[in-house]
Amino acid sequence: AETDKGIYPYYMLKEVDEQPVVIRRLVARYLTDDGQIKLGQAILDEMEAADHIYIVAAGTSYHAGLVGARMFEQWSNKPTSVYLASEFAYEQSILSQKPFFIFLSQSGETADSREVLQNVNEQGFHSLTLTNVEKSTLWREATYALPLMAGPEIAVASTKAYVAQVTLQAILAYALADANQMTFNLHEQLSEIAVAIQSIVDDKAVFEKVANQMLVPETTHSAFYIGRGADAAVALEAALKLKEISYVQAEGFAAGELKHGTLALIEEGTPVIALITQPKTAGLVRGNLSETTARGARPFTIVTKALAQTGDDYILPDVNPLLTPLVSVVPTQLLAYYTSLGRHLDVDRPRNLAKSVTVQ
Ligand code: G6P
Repeated sequence: AETDKGIYPYYMLKEVDEQPVVIRRLVARYLTDDGQIKLGQAILDEMEAADHIYIVAAGTSYHAGLVGARMFEQWSNKPTSVYLASEFAYEQSILSQKPFFIFLSQSGETADSREVLQNVNEQGFHSLTLTNVEKSTLWREATYALPLMAGPEIAVASTKAYVAQVTLQAILAYALADANQMTFNLHEQLSEIAVAIQSIVDDKAVFEKVANQMLVPETTHSAFYIGRGADAAVALEAALKLKEISYVQAEGFAAGELKHGTLALIEEGTPVIALITQPKTAGLVRGNLSETTARGARPFTIVTKALAQTGDDYILPDVNPLLTPLVSVVPTQLLAYYTSLGRHLDVDRPRNLAKSVTVQ
């Protein structure tokens, strides 16, 4: 059954491995071979008519929203803001004339997001929920809903739902974009990404070794992920994953901000993992990384092939720069997994956490 662990020691590893399949499933459901979109026209018309998109989510889903917003802005030319549900519920920003809301939620039951949707409905605004659980509360109460099709996600630490959320937002942003401006075929790109993710999950031994060297030792109390642009968003998710299941205090950082305070935390041996996939800022991130190594940090670079230099540690296949989060997140999931495993923790059921948080 879909909910069996099968040969896997933990659900998380199974779910990480399923990510190529999840992308292919979404592609088959929402895109034709020549890259045309198969989506209800009403959803597209409403999003088209909106002057601002508000993405509301919590946890990992919020991090997926940070990635999606870039695609809505850069491909679809739609001003987009991303909000934490727990904040937006009690402090709503001044809204635009024609707002449209997108709720991202694996479970469809997160209390904070439900609270926001209730407010949105009371104000008469329209919304779209992207969730993995059909008929969930956020599914039922939004104007529209689309399934993430990731299959049941059982490990508390979310992996394949994040990838599904980013993929589905890419499909929506692509659908809203001016077709003449899009110089690539999304169907092709996502198929290549599924292959790329497969190559990364086939490299498990690499990440097991790196985790054991850098993150598992008891002397490692903290770690940093850094990057700029879409990489900064992935850095937040990477750090959250590590915190959730390995209890290593981790921070994800927009690389340029390190020097404004956080650099003070770097000590001899502190792991600093740099995500370098954005052509415009790759050089700057390398500069920020050297500022940490000059203070004794232990660096690890995750870099796309086109931007790689001698001495880089892990090379990712090249994909469209806004879609790189789909591939760059995978090494960080595996690093978290092997750190948790190496520390003999319960990977799937970390202390103090719940899969779905139904209290505010
Ligand atoms: C909990 C889970 C996280 C998840 C967050 C939001 O904290 O442990 O993995 O990202 O809730 O959940 P949702 O179901 O709304 O995506």
